[in-house]
This record gives sequence, structure tokens and C-alpha cells, in this order.
Amino acid sequence: MAESLASPVAAVILAAGKGTRMKSETHKVLHPIGGRPMLMHLMSSLGELLPQRTLVVVGDRAEQLQAALTGTGAELVVQQPQLGTGHAVLQAVDAMPDFAGTTLILFGDVPLLTPATMKRLLEAVDRPGGPDIAVLAFRTDTPGAYGRVIADADGTMHRIVEAKDASAEELQVRLCNSGLMAVRSEHLGGWLRALRNDNAAGEYYLTDLIALARESGRRAVVLEGSPEEVIGVNSRNELAVAEGLFQARYRQNLMALGVTLVAPESVFFSHDTEIGADTLVEPHVVFGPGVRIAAGATIRAFSHLEGAEVASGCEVGPYARLRPGTVLHQGAKVGNFVETKKAVLGAGAKANHLSYLGDAEIGAKANIGAGTITCNYDGFLKYRTVIGEGAFIGSNSSLVAPVNIGAGAIVGAGSAVTKDVETDSLTLVRAPQESKPGWAARFRAQMQARKDKR
Ligand code: UD1
Ligand code: CA
Repeated sequence: MAESLASPVAAVILAAGKGTRMKSETHKVLHPIGGRPMLMHLMSSLGELLPQRTLVVVGDRAEQLQAALTGTGAELVVQQPQLGTGHAVLQAVDAMPDFAGTTLILFGDVPLLTPATMKRLLEAVDRPGGPDIAVLAFRTDTPGAYGRVIADADGTMHRIVEAKDASAEELQVRLCNSGLMAVRSEHLGGWLRALRNDNAAGEYYLTDLIALARESGRRAVVLEGSPEEVIGVNSRNELAVAEGLFQARYRQNLMALGVTLVAPESVFFSHDTEIGADTLVEPHVVFGPGVRIAAGATIRAFSHLEGAEVASGCEVGPYARLRPGTVLHQGAKVGNFVETKKAVLGAGAKANHLSYLGDAEIGAKANIGAGTITCNYDGFLKYRTVIGEGAFIGSNSSLVAPVNIGAGAIVGAGSAVTKDVETDSLTLVRAPQESKPGWAARFRAQMQARKDKR
């Protein structure tokens, strides 16, 4: 339990809806935002509250959620058939009869809720004599199909009315139910069991809890949040909107931490991208999962990084592609049209142009000439290339792995190196140059004469 909360927390994440509008074989809550499944965004935010139990209510495709949740400590509860949000929460509550504390109800398809807001909801009911229910709501001029919150100005709620069941007057209400709430556990089970489905949808509405609580002399309060934070994802279009909001939030956080983004809206991050202060990121850079950039590095335009670690003083790009297993030590440089994979570049090493460096270890201050390729794959297995400190690899060399280039060695341009190269040696693996003085001039004269005769 988070230290500021008196009562233990149980989280219930609803994810039994069919998600048909996604038109996908993948369970809706497993679609990624910032490279991580929506459900895992919630799991990670919940982590900060240290819930005693986390229950995920699932209908179809339970096996997909089971796989995704392995090792997280979350438990799956199957709701079959799906008779509404109230029915869904009841399945979870029935699965934890001994729980006493606060139950936090979340939707698996509302992934951007922050730990701070979760905590606000919990704190609202986390004291004896306080309200039993805290509902998160938001204001919008286009309330559409959202449930309308009927409440007093001081936040005391009367009820929530679903749009389908609302009167013309109620439909004018702009305060909408996000669906998310915190409920003290004492009466939750009883109220859920008392829900009826005599409404427009024929479902057991979780939202009817508010009226039930009020009828039994208990209080429910509404807290207002930002519409962006409670955006729901039901379609690919909404997924893109949620992704956009996530990216905007991530960019702002990084800039607040001292990262310069020249054109923030053109740079895309993953949920786990780490970048240190005073690092400069030029426009149109994409960070896939698993990237760590130290302070004071420069990532130039149109680079794509994934599973890479970049130390301070490094320069990457423009147009660089760092793939998983790339490690750039202090001040290393990877320039345009260079692709690296499982490649470690020592401090100050440089690969400035047009290279592929895979399964490679490159010593400090080594210089990898333009067009150098590590031939790491024979169609079956992968092999390593090790280049010593200060070695100089001439342009357009092929290093056929497994191969070691000694420290300080020079490999002549255009070499196809298949054998190890000694420390401080010069290695040339190319046909010797043959020159024929005057040949070109004689050739041209001859050919011109032949052509003139035609
Ligand atoms: C619900 C709220 C509505 C609120 C809206 C916000 C109710 C009755 N209404 O409406 O007031 O404005 O969310 O988006 O709660 N689910 C299950 N099992 C079910 C039904 C739903 O697990 O039997 C899950 C869905 O997967 C989804 C969530 O509950 O994650 C909400 O269900 P949904 O059908 O989208 O609720 P709405 O009708 O939109
Ligand atoms: Ca919905």
C-alpha cells in the first residue's frame, strides 16, 4: 500500500468487453501505446500504489491476457457472459471475499490514467466517516454516449445516468463519468448484488452504485480530471489519439528534465526511453523500446534507435539506425547511413558513414571507414568481429567474421578480410594495382577512328 494511504488497495481492471471495433485478433487492451500494451501502462501506474491484489476481468481471449500478465502478480477473473460493468466488478469482488480496504475500479481500455489521479481517487475515500465512493469525471462539450454525472456543486453525487436512459434535460449535463472509481469495500459486494438490469441496455450498470449508496445513507463524491487522461480506446482511430496524447506527455516530461527537442512533435518515444539532461534530439527521430541516452549526447535528424545505450558526448546520425545490443561509449560517433546491431563502440570510436556493424566489438578511438561491412552471417549462424583500440579500417572493407583486427592495425581500403589481423600491422586484401601509361589516350584515338569510318 502506498505509504500515505491508510487502507489496503485492491485494483480491478475491467477488460471483458468484446472490443469489436478494433477489428483485431489481438485483445484490445494488448494493443501498444508507446510500444507497450495498454494494460501494462495501467499495471505500471498501479505499481506505484502497491495494491494488495490486482484482478483483471476478462471475457474472450483470456489466454492472451494470461500470457501478458505472467509474473506480474495480477489475477485473471473470467466474466462469461458479459452482463455489464456492474456484473464485471461483481465477478472480481466475489473472487476476493476477504478483502477489506479500497477497491479501485479501472478500465483496461483507459490506459493513460496517472498514478497521481489514482491516488486522488483512493484518498477521497480513505478515511473513516468519509464518502464510500469517489468517481472520476470530466467535462466536455461533446458528452455523446457518456454517462452523465448528477451532482451538487460541492461534489456530492446523486446518481449517474447512462446516456441511453437520460432525459433531454439530463443529456444537457456536461459532467461525464469516466467509468473509473474508488469504492470502500464494506458495502461494495452488497450494492453490486443489488444492481438490477431494468434499463435501456438490459445491463447491470456499475454506475447505479451511486444511487444505491445514496439510498442507504452513504455518500459518493465526484472528482474532476482532464478528459485527455481518461480517454478510452475502442477503435484504431482512438488508439492513435491515445498514442498522440502519450507522446505529447512524454515529450513534455523529457523537456522538463532538460532534454532539448528541436521539433518535439516529430520525435517519437517508447514508454521506457531514458534521456539525460542537455542531450539534443533533432527532428524526426524515433526511439523504439529499450533506449538509454546519457546526458550531453546529440541525436541527429532521422535516426532510429532501439535497444541501444548511448553515452554522453556521443553523436548519432543524421540517418543512423541503432538496433538492439548497440552500446556507444563516451564520445563515440555513428554517422549517416550506419546500421549497428549488437555492436559495442569504445570511447571515441567512429563509424561516420555508410556501414553495417553487427555482432561487433570496436575498441576505443578505432576509425571505421565509409562503407565498412561486418559480414556476420553465413545464412546459418552469426559470428563476431573484434576490432582493437585505435585500429583504422579503410573504406569499403568487408570484415568476414569471425575475425579479429588487432589494436592499432590499419586495413587498406577495399579489403575483404577473412583472417585475423595483427596488432599495428598493415593489411591489404585486394588485387594489386596495375597501370598502363598512355593506354586510355591510345584507346580513345583508336575507337574514334573506327567510329569515323562507319
Ligand atoms: C461506461 C459507463 C459510462 C461511462 C463510460 C466511460 C457504465 C454502465 N457506464 O459506459 O457511464 O461514461 O463507461 O467510457 O458503467 N466491461 C466488462 N464487462 C462487461 C461490460 C464492460 O468488462 O460486461 C468493460 C469493458 O471492457 C470496458 C469497460 O468495462 O473496459 C467499460 O465498458 P463499456 O461497454 O465501454 O462501457 P460504456 O457503455 O461505454
Ligand atoms: Ca466505452
